Amino acid sequence: MNQSALPADTLFLPVSPAGRPPRVPASDDLPLLDALDWGRLYAQLNEEGVALTPPLLSRAQCQEIIDTFEQPGLFRSTVVMQRHQFGRGTYKYYADPAAVPVIQNLREQLYPSMAWMANQWAPQLGERTFPLSLEELLAECADNGQSRSTPLILQYGPGDYACLHQDIYGDIVFPLQIAVMLNQPGDDFTGGENVFVEQRPRFQSRAIVVKPELGQGMIFPVRHRPIRSKHGFRRHPMRHGTNAVETGQRTTLGLIFHNAR
Ligand SMILES: [Fe+2]
Repeated sequence: MNQSALPADTLFLPVSPAGRPPRVPASDDLPLLDALDWGRLYAQLNEEGVALTPPLLSRAQCQEIIDTFEQPGLFRSTVVMQRHQFGRGTYKYYADPAAVPVIQNLREQLYPSMAWMANQWAPQLGERTFPLSLEELLAECADNGQSRSTPLILQYGPGDYACLHQDIYGDIVFPLQIAVMLNQPGDDFTGGENVFVEQRPRFQSRAIVVKPELGQGMIFPVRHRPIRSKHGFRRHPMRHGTNAVETGQRTTLGLIFHNAR
């Protein structure tokens, strides 16, 4: 997290976790997940609007995911962003994340703690809570016509960028998502910073720039976050995008937990 990007009027929230965060189960595939401190990540998410995790994937695991980009049989859809005025670059939705175990494991193992955070936000946002297993969330999505998988891989080369947006794919919106950096900034690419903009009702918007290292994940709101006010909480809409890549190639994995209509 680029702390210097935070203005002096950054809003801070006291953190009062309801209960303890669920422990991430051990896994041979994802040994680094064991070390995650979800209390700290939740505090950072509330203080700054985005939480930056320690590396979630090894270099070899990142490369394994990057290599999937050239395997067309793995994807349900390819989006050339300039055709839709989304920016410039290409992203692809996995047809079935279970076909890539490293992605499936990451999504399944992160979800319970993401749901723990989402469920603390629920009363603050005046919204619903979510089941603590990804399987249950996806079953609910399917019952509501949201059956298409949403994990995606995004690849940007020089001049590529993403406009500010939100990833909403239907009525069921799990409120947090995570993007994992698969390349090493400085070595593999330059530019391509992650940009988040928080709209503060009646006040000027705030920009946050985040520069994750290889394997690090950014946890951020899908559409808004709760901010304590005099009379409870108010919602601050948030959008995210990517600054233009200057040199090299930048690949990220996006994990959105609700499926798409
Ligand atoms: Fe997005």
